[in-house]
This record gives sequence, C-alpha cells and structure tokens, in this order.
Amino acid sequence: MEETAVPAAGGPAALRGLAGQTTQLLQPVPLTSIEASKAARTETRITELDRVLGDGLVPGSTVLLAGDPGIGKSTLLLQAAAGVATASPNSPVVYATGEESTEQLKLRAERLGISQERLLVVPTGDVVALGVLADEAKPALIVVDSSQTAWHSGVDGPPGSLGQLRQCASALGDIARRSGVPVVLTGHVTKEGTVAGPKVLEHVVDVVLQLEGSAGTSIRLLRGSKNRYGATDELGVFEMTQIGLRDVAEPSAMFLAERQPGASGSSVATVIEGTRPITVEVQALVTPTPASTPRRTANGYDLGRLHLLIAVITKRLNLPLGSSDVVLNVAGGLQLTEPAADLAVALAIVSSYLDAPVLDGLSASGEVGLGGELRAVQQAARRVSEAGRLGFEKCLVPAGCGDLGDAESGAVRCRTLGEAVAAAIPFPNAEDANPR
Ligand SMILES: Nc1ncnc2c1ncn2[C@@H]1O[C@H](COP(=O)(O)OP(=O)(O)O)[C@@H](O)[C@H]1O
Ligand SMILES: [Mg+2]
Repeated sequence: MEETAVPAAGGPAALRGLAGQTTQLLQPVPLTSIEASKAARTETRITELDRVLGDGLVPGSTVLLAGDPGIGKSTLLLQAAAGVATASPNSPVVYATGEESTEQLKLRAERLGISQERLLVVPTGDVVALGVLADEAKPALIVVDSSQTAWHSGVDGPPGSLGQLRQCASALGDIARRSGVPVVLTGHVTKEGTVAGPKVLEHVVDVVLQLEGSAGTSIRLLRGSKNRYGATDELGVFEMTQIGLRDVAEPSAMFLAERQPGASGSSVATVIEGTRPITVEVQALVTPTPASTPRRTANGYDLGRLHLLIAVITKRLNLPLGSSDVVLNVAGGLQLTEPAADLAVALAIVSSYLDAPVLDGLSASGEVGLGGELRAVQQAARRVSEAGRLGFEKCLVPAGCGDLGDAESGAVRCRTLGEAVAAAIPFPNAEDANPR
C-alpha cells in the first residue's frame, strides 16, 4: 500500500495556486499567428519507400519499421540510409546497430554494393549518446536498429523491456523534434501477435510501417498503419534479391505471374491500392466435405467477408455451398481490403464449384451486396484501363459506375452477381450443375 496525497478540492483561486506551483500558466496563442515551416522532406531515393512515407521523411519525425525477423528491415534501412547520404552531400547519416556487429553490417553493405563515405556506423543502442551525437554531428538521418536493443541509461530494466522500449521511443522522439533529424527505428513482431514490442511504440512515433511477405516468396510488401504526414493506404512493393530489396514498379505482373489461364477457381481482381491500380490473381478451391461444419479459410481476404459472400452465392445464385469446404488465396501475400475485390472472389468460388474456368482475358471489380447486387466502385475507369493495359480485354464492373470515358469499351457492366457469373463463366445452366 502506498500513501498518495490528494490535492484539496477548491475553487478557481485554489486551482490557480496549484497550477502556479507546478507550471507556468498557459498562454494560448491564436492559430493564425503560428508559423509552420514547410521544410523539405528527405527522400530516401527508394521509390517504393518514399511512396509509402508520403514523398520522403519529414524533418523531426520518428518512423517505426516493424516486421518479422529476417523479413528485410535492416536491408531496407541500410539501402535507405545510403540513399539519404547520397542525397544530402553536406551531412552524414548515422546507423546505430545495437543488434548486429559493425562487421556484419559491413558484409551486408558489400553484398548490397553500398559504399558511402558519409554513412557512419555506431555499434550501440545507447539512446542518450545518440541524442548527443544528433546535436553534434547534425546528421540527415538516424537509424536505430533495433528498438529491442535500444536502451536508456535513465531507466532500470534490460533492453527490450516495456519500460525501456517506451522511454527509448519517447527519448528518440524528443531528439528528432529538437534536432529536426528524422529518426527511423526497427521493431520485431513478437510471437504474442501484433507487434507486442512495437505495439507500445505505435503511440509514441509519428509513422508506423509494416514490412510483410509470405513465406517462400521473394515479394515484400510495405504498408503504413499510421502516418501523421500522409495517407496510410499506399502500398510499397519490393522483391528481395541477392543485392537487396528492389523496387517493383509494375506489381501487377508479379501478382499474376503464376496464373494458369484456363484453370477453374481462378479469377483476376483489379483493386486500387493507395494511388495505384493493381491487378491480382484470386484463387478458390471448393471441395465437398462429409463434415457437418464445412471449413472456410481465407488467405489475404477477410474471413467474415468470405462467409458473407458464400451466403450470398448460396442464396442468390442457388448454389448450395453448405456442404463444401472453401479455401481462398490471394496471390503474392497481398491483403485485399477493398470491397471492390468481392466480385473476383465470388467468381473464383463459383468457378471452382462449377469446375468451369472464368473466361480468359477477363478481370473484375465490384462490391457484392447482400441482395446479390453489384455496388459501384470508385475510380472504375482507372481499374478498367489498368486491366486493359495488362492484356485483360474486358473488366466486369457494376452497372452503377459513372461515366467511364475512353475505358467504356473495355468494361462489361453488370447489375447483379448472377449477371456477372453469366458473363464470366460459360456454363450451360448453373442450377443443373453437378458440384465436383
Ligand atoms: N548472403 C545472402 N544472400 C542473399 N540474401 C541474403 C543473404 N543474407 C541475408 N539475405 C536475405 O536477407 C534477409 C535478412 O534480412 P534482414 O534485413 O537482416 O532482416 P531483418 O532486419 O528484418 O531481420 C534474409 O531473410 C535473406 O532473405
Ligand atoms: Mg535486422
């Protein structure tokens, strides 16, 4: 039990006395009189990273790069550090490596072909010392790799403990704001799930980026989950190669790479990720099951949404999926969050159930409503054009989409899911189909 003094309640005079003892009284200023300097952002010269950041690093900001161990955080940041050093001829870049030795870092730099005089390496996670260095060396960027090995001498507890993580992040935030130097720190996603370590940091930093990738593929996706200086719906796409992470300017080709035309259960969705339309393969496998509760799994798509689509297909198209397992997979580890992906998912499911392929050269974009109706999607013209550019002659879109301009000739407007299925999957009579 610990005794705590509770301040006596009192009127305005007492409150005023209390405030006067502890802090200066507040002096509000008119918003119009505040000058905001729009300092230029620092580009990392990595197109996909700059895109997700919102055109580069904001001076004085703190960025957390979170991801599984081994996903490529250190690789990306070493490349970014070199890019910033090249872009700013008068200031160094400090890379604080608390996790790996300087020799390990050097080996990576050699592998990535990075040789940059102004890239300075310090083998420490000592945040207080980094603060001093920031003031003295005036770097263009400080990288702290990783937050789990950062430590603050003013806090008890080993590096990586909750207290240390919090204090280090807030101290790094102070350093960034005071010196104007952007600070980027890495954080591992821990086994307990969503970023147990980084989770406590999310409130403290200005930007949170997640680097993800599905096992066994070289595709790496970068997404912002928080950004005080830009949109969070931008997607950065990289390929992990021997010489580091490579920008993928044309992600659609990658998400369609292993598609087998003519295979049933496969469809193509055109979605908008941030400012970019992307075309991606969606696969479904529908198989009869003796189990009383069929299994439904979704990889890259919301499971609740999958259940909803299965219900709509069962009820509106009269296809009894109640005794079938449904497995859904989105190519390349992409997470489809846009409702516009619904139509392609539904087509993949129906195609697999009927064992009849979706017509070649067809992509789809549309939200499916509970009544089986297709609901309009934003930027339909851009979706149709992007699909057309990639060789998909026709794109199914909801009938309610506005004027498509030049893209109209590539669009097939459908009012309902039934119409879309009829247009996309040539099958004599869906209701007589023998499920396979
Ligand atoms: N010698 C190498 N040749 C090719 N790729 C390598 C080599 N060493 C490491 N990598 C790649 O780099 C990844 C490690 O990236 P890293 O940036 O250290 O990840 P993180 O910092 O997120 O833990 C490995 O998973 C591997 O894909
Ligand atoms: Mg690392």
